[in-house]
Amino acid sequence: MSQLLDPIHRRHIESLGISREARVLEVGCGNGSMSAWMAEHIAPDGQIVALDLDLSLVDNVRAPGVEFRRGDFVTGPVDPGRFDFVTARAVLHHVADAKVATGDLVASLRPGGAILLIEPDFLPVSVAEPIEMRTFWSGWLAWSRERGIDYHIGPTLAPRLACYGLKEIEATAETEIYNSGSQWADYWRDTITELRGDLIQSGKLNDALIAEFLAHCANPRWWTQTIAFTAVHARATGS
Ligand SMILES: C[S@@+](CC[C@H](N)C(=O)[O-])C[C@H]1O[C@@H](n2cnc3c(N)ncnc32)[C@H](O)[C@@H]1O
Repeated sequence: MSQLLDPIHRRHIESLGISREARVLEVGCGNGSMSAWMAEHIAPDGQIVALDLDLSLVDNVRAPGVEFRRGDFVTGPVDPGRFDFVTARAVLHHVADAKVATGDLVASLRPGGAILLIEPDFLPVSVAEPIEMRTFWSGWLAWSRERGIDYHIGPTLAPRLACYGLKEIEATAETEIYNSGSQWADYWRDTITELRGDLIQSGKLNDALIAEFLAHCANPRWWTQTIAFTAVHARATGS
């Protein structure tokens, strides 16, 4: 995931012009790759807090300048009003109440601080070809809804930040068009293979559809797009 998304995330952070001394918060840091990169390249004289419910992926990570914290950002804002920059990627679509969670992230900003959220939007699967692939994705989305995952959260982020009174809101969505042999095809092959038993047991997908999807993933003539990512950034009022 981080190999696929770090380049997008870095590009957006670089365009925001974060100061070298910034106090930065990343929630749902996963393997810590973005916080480690920010400590090295964006805010080398600042302070980076990287928070996650599960820090097992950073056990052996050496990241000078990063304070890894175990915690749940949904139970309330982390250090309210403290951070110059707050970011979360591929996290809000997993939480039960994304509206409240977004409010908690905003509350961690100091006046004038910037926020960057990157979350999925599965709209492109509605035009996937052939029709069996649309059926496959429809089953995948039904499965994820049942597990409380919101794969259509991307377009809701900008209006939500506006509701919290943020300014300078800008949002873009991007997706990759790929075929077999690409990192995205590998990602989906591995993910669907790992979840195959659960997907079938849920009744939302059957073995034949999964086999057909995996065959398409291995076909160099099948070009497709699946997930898009919405990146939204905004700034708190004040200075
Ligand atoms: C899909 S992973 C994304 C990891 C990383 N941001 C990335 O894009 O590669 C979601 C991460 O968010 C963390 N997470 C989910 N809910 C959380 C919460 N309420 N508080 C803190 N971390 C949370 C999970 O433990 C996991 O590491």
